[in-house]
Amino acid sequence: MKLRQPASASISGAAFLVDRSGLTDAVKSRSIELMNSILGTTFVLVFKVWGFHWNMVGDSFHPTHKWFQKLYESLSEDVDSTAERVRAMNGKALGSLSEMIEHSIINETIPGELPSIPEMINILLLDYETSIRQMRNACSILAAIQPQDDGDLNYLQDMIMRREKDTWMLRANS
Ligand SMILES: [Fe+2]
Repeated sequence: MKLRQPASASISGAAFLVDRSGLTDAVKSRSIELMNSILGTTFVLVFKVWGFHWNMVGDSFHPTHKWFQKLYESLSEDVDSTAERVRAMNGKALGSLSEMIEHSIINETIPGELPSIPEMINILLLDYETSIRQMRNACSILAAIQPQDDGDLNYLQDMIMRREKDTWMLRANS
């Protein structure tokens, strides 16, 4: 079978190569950059929740310990799928802890500090809201440069909905 040659498309007056799935190089490289930033944020968040899960003390230890396990398990799946999304766009996923921290828009836990369980919930509530804003911002950017980038937009929207549900739980417990 004869493969079609890539066509060219115009974004902001410049010509970009379009691959056989219909995405331009410009969209793919922006997607890789945004997804890697989301990957860094989600990675820092998963480790933060996990650390809280280990170190928490207090009256509500048992249910909160189990609840936080569900949170970090869900975030771990998002970490994996986001890294694989980067690879699907032919990019290189972040592969070191220093890169994860560098790309994250949330701060890691302050070493040596142990918040109370209510403080942990409030910290995570802010971080979850920040991570949702980051994904929503990525959707806006990608939709503006290529509204037909259904793969990335659907992927991000699904992740936003899952994160919003967990944010509701955090807010209801705060
Ligand atoms: Fe555990």
